[in-house]
Amino acid sequence: MNTEEEKRLAADAAAELIEVNSRVGLGTGTTVAYLLEAIARRGVTARYVATSPGTADAARALGIVVESFDGLDELDLAIDGADQIAPDGWLVKGRGGAHLREKVVAASARRFVVIADSSKPVASLHPPVPLELHHFGLRATLRELGSVTVRDAERSPDGGVLADYHGAVDDPRALAVRLASTPGISAHGLFAPELVSDIIVATGKTVTTTTLGGPR
Ligand code: A5P
Repeated sequence: MNTEEEKRLAADAAAELIEVNSRVGLGTGTTVAYLLEAIARRGVTARYVATSPGTADAARALGIVVESFDGLDELDLAIDGADQIAPDGWLVKGRGGAHLREKVVAASARRFVVIADSSKPVASLHPPVPLELHHFGLRATLRELGSVTVRDAERSPDGGVLADYHGAVDDPRALAVRLASTPGISAHGLFAPELVSDIIVATGKTVTTTTLGGPR
């Protein structure tokens, strides 16, 4: 069983959680691409919002109606991939550069479900941790942070500079506090377990759902 098949199995399982007419946040990435296909196949009508222009475009190409997040103040469910999943539920997200919107969407959802193939669970989180930085004062922010590389990439849809933190991630909570309190950072890719409701991981043909303490 290959990684793509595992992504598809995890995504299929998550698509089953979508209830008719519910408000659903769609993440970003290659695993979410399978989620979009599963939603299109199921044809379940819901109010969908996207965490990136790429997801919005891909969803619409499949006939899924995506609306602006401006008209909603809460979501029933958000489903997204992850780069790393620690045993205690901490996540690293943002390799695709969408972590700012992904975190806003996840935090606004009553239930946040992570979908992943078997390469994503790790014994402990490791660098890099994606960042989105304000352009203003960028050099000062980089100096303050230390081990950071700026990506050779377009700005984010919100005008941010995408970068990666390469320092130690031994204590994710302490690092998350430090990154969140650094003025030049718009968003970092550490997602706390309190945000996460369920993690669905496919390993071969086996799909395992782990329920965490996040909102429900
Ligand atoms: C996008 O910015 C990321 O947070 C993705 O959700 C994460 O990188 C997982 O992507 P894949 O599903 O492509 O591995």
